[in-house]
Amino acid sequence: MTRTVYLNGEYLPEAEAKVSIFDRGFLMADGVYEVTSVLDGKLIDFPGHRARLARSLHELDMAAPCSDDKLLAIHRELIAVNAITEGMVYLQVTRGNPGDRDFAYPPADTKPTLVLFTQAKPGLADNPAVRTGWKVISVPDIRWGRRDIKTVQLLYPSMAKMAAKAAHVDDSWFVEDGFVTEGTSNNAYIVKGNRIITRQLSSDILHGITRSAVLRFAAEAQMVIEERPFTIAETQQADEAFITSASAFVMPVVEVDGAALGHGKPGPVTTRLREIYLEEMRKTAI
Ligand code: PDD
Repeated sequence: MTRTVYLNGEYLPEAEAKVSIFDRGFLMADGVYEVTSVLDGKLIDFPGHRARLARSLHELDMAAPCSDDKLLAIHRELIAVNAITEGMVYLQVTRGNPGDRDFAYPPADTKPTLVLFTQAKPGLADNPAVRTGWKVISVPDIRWGRRDIKTVQLLYPSMAKMAAKAAHVDDSWFVEDGFVTEGTSNNAYIVKGNRIITRQLSSDILHGITRSAVLRFAAEAQMVIEERPFTIAETQQADEAFITSASAFVMPVVEVDGAALGHGKPGPVTTRLREIYLEEMRKTAI
């Protein structure tokens, strides 16, 4: 089945969706994105992703490409026409096509480019990697200073993913001034006893939509949450570690820079949090 994608008001076969070479997203990485998971054919935490998209657009003085209702309708239509049961909807908005290359932003009435497509991922919820957990390495965080804006400038995270692959592990954790910021495309946590430790929100990290839900569920389950920076050395002494993202949900981390955590296996706190997260989010999926 050919994938149907959305581009600027049209539903098209993927091969027919074309964007100008002058698009600001292509020339300047001048665009923002969201990734929303689909389980049972429904969107997980759509209001959270919609709100963060609005914030990213606002921070970059970009106009909203369409109404919130329309955005939801496009997501739903793509899920339906592509028969997605488990997977993701990717959304990208760029500052559009000014017709030439220029560092200055084009006039405010330049039409933004809006692209959405689906990715089918059967087995997303019952991911076998959850049973073994991820191994990660640390790499220096040399990204720009506004990581709270979800921009499409993903070259360094891609390089860090390649460093992980070269080291035969699953992901990289970024470290800045001695402290972990986050993973290549996820938020990072350690567990010590009943305490869940994760870096506090600031422009140093992306404000994960999964993070927000997981911390809420953890608090409801009487777990103690400490929002503060932590080091790789502290991670290596932790009982457990994990990451969260819209595509991995809650994923155990069992090894950091070659040191096994706990017993080198996914721990009970992480496993429980993943269960709670999936159970609760399925209830509110739309
Ligand atoms: N990445 N930190 C970074 C740098 C990210 O790119 C992401 C998400 C997260 C987690 O955010 P959320 O829980 O809202 O997905 C944290 C997406 C999944 C991606 O780039 O594919």
